[in-house]
Amino acid sequence: MNIVVSNVKGGVGKTTTTVYLAAIALERGFGPVVVVDADRQASSAEWLEARPVEGIDLQEAPSERTVARAMERHEGLAVVDTPPGDERIVRAALERADAVVIPTRAGGVEFSRVVATLELVPEGTPHGVVVCAARLGTHDLDVTVAWWEGEKVPVWGIIPERVAIASGPESRLAREGLEAYDEVLRKATRRRPR
Ligand SMILES: Nc1ncnc2c1ncn2[C@@H]1O[C@H](COP(=O)(O)OP(=O)(O)OP(=O)(O)O)[C@@H](O)[C@H]1O
Ligand SMILES: [Mg+2]
Repeated sequence: MNIVVSNVKGGVGKTTTTVYLAAIALERGFGPVVVVDADRQASSAEWLEARPVEGIDLQEAPSERTVARAMERHEGLAVVDTPPGDERIVRAALERADAVVIPTRAGGVEFSRVVATLELVPEGTPHGVVVCAARLGTHDLDVTVAWWEGEKVPVWGIIPERVAIASGPESRLAREGLEAYDEVLRKATRRRPR
């Protein structure tokens, strides 16, 4: 199975979401788990090189051809990190996705970028948004969740803003983050057999 993490906007939480989803998938027995890094910036590759997770394989795939190959040739679960630009690579990944996770932030300016991302998702491919670095209990967050409900786009998760998550590879994966991403994983895989 291939889960593609995508948003045409930069800095929303794609790489963080990719690494946490892969780690919780491994923990939940979805293995073998591979992170496919389709971003030339190689942030998830750098993260996993700095702080390897035993059992997570890493494939750098910074082109249409390499991402297609990486997604077609693996067993188990692949989580694919995508670049903010590079529409051709993003399309190559989205075309092969079994589920698409769209990280976003709370706030009105974010909606249009998610809509632009959704336009690239093939019809019928399950997809959901994940509100990253969310400030729980704020009006902004409530408005964001209500807006997606109105748009009939499922919200697969709300990940609280936490220093431990923001520190990325500098510290171990935060338990609270893993638990929040567990729900996203369940929605994206719809409890497929392990
Ligand atoms: N739940 C969270 N709490 C706090 N900070 C977070 C959280 N999720 C992501 N961040 C921070 O937000 C910033 C952007 O996250 P990330 O690098 O994952 O985004 P990205 O979409 O992959 O960016 P790019 O488009 O540049 O690849 C990072 O500094 C990251 O640590
Ligand atoms: Mg990234």
